[in-house]
Amino acid sequence: MPLVPPYIESLEPYKAGKPIAELQKELGIRDVIKLASNENPLGPSPNALKAMIAATAELNFYPNGGLDLREELARQYKLRTENVIAGSGSEGIMSNIIRAFLCDEDEVLTSDGTFIGFYVLARSRGVRMIAVPLKDYHFDLEGIAARINDHTKIIYLANPNNPTGTIFTRPEFDHFMKSVPSNVLIILDEAYFEYARDNPSYPDSMHYRYDNVITLRTFSKVYGLAGIRIGYGFAHDLLIKNLLKVKLPFEPSTLAQAAGIGALQDPEFLHRSLAVNAAGKRQLRDGLREAGFNALPTEANFFCIPLASEADAESLFQYLLRQGIIIRPLKAFGLPHCIRITIGTQEQNGRLLAALKNRT
Ligand SMILES: Cc1ncc(COP(=O)(O)O)c(C=O)c1O
Repeated sequence: MPLVPPYIESLEPYKAGKPIAELQKELGIRDVIKLASNENPLGPSPNALKAMIAATAELNFYPNGGLDLREELARQYKLRTENVIAGSGSEGIMSNIIRAFLCDEDEVLTSDGTFIGFYVLARSRGVRMIAVPLKDYHFDLEGIAARINDHTKIIYLANPNNPTGTIFTRPEFDHFMKSVPSNVLIILDEAYFEYARDNPSYPDSMHYRYDNVITLRTFSKVYGLAGIRIGYGFAHDLLIKNLLKVKLPFEPSTLAQAAGIGALQDPEFLHRSLAVNAAGKRQLRDGLREAGFNALPTEANFFCIPLASEADAESLFQYLLRQGIIIRPLKAFGLPHCIRITIGTQEQNGRLLAALKNRT
């Protein structure tokens, strides 16, 4: 037996969006902007920061496993604490789902062109993964349903999807759920939920309460807390009970939990973030069109733009880097001819659009 199992050996370590400090050093300039990782351009929720500072006095004690945040979420969503889990980002909870529920002979089923984090977690468990092609840059729920078999254990859906920004609709989801056996677990990743929830055709998974669906949400995006690692999930008691068995006992950290609770009590920041995103979405949509780009419709805080070729995507990425603007080429997501641009502040969006227009 080799020391490293083949399914680990074949993995590539995750490459995050290029950090600002790295590009500043490379270019010798100071005003680099990062529109690469769907982070909140307004910074973190001020109330979350206040809550974290207050929590520092207790850092000599071990955390309580996210209990306070679970109780607060249960209160806000009118659930029982037994239906809520908190973890180190929604990806941390996803990792626990993989550990808790997958056996060697199980299969996972998802789409091409979705969140890389899920592919990595599934591959690192060494199980078979089936990825159904996107249909016009949308999840093909019918195509996914058609691939369910006796070995299917987990189906991963992201709504809105990263990196396309597209959603599947209520009727599509209703129809899909009719084909899913009750012993197949659906991970419904709603990392961008807050940006999409006012769209009447968006299926908010919490309206359904299926026993085999785990809803995952995060404080990383609209609450501006990607760096502290705090996310949460909602599901049937039985699923949560088993997730709690495999979770690291002391995640989330005391500061992460405090940040989450502080953020939940910061509706002003939530509304401001959504308003800035909505205005930025209009600004970029119109500006991109004027600059000759056909962005996909988005229900999140980023745009996905298909270009003519992989070479075009790479050369636009490199050009923008030289202008001090970091965006995300999507080769690693299986969409090599596409780029993704996070919606920034009005000023950041303006700088991006000016750079695109000045390109000869
Ligand atoms: C669809 C999706 N799910 C999950 C995550 C990870 O979120 P978290 O920071 O809560 O782990 C991301 C982050 O980009 C994402 O786009």
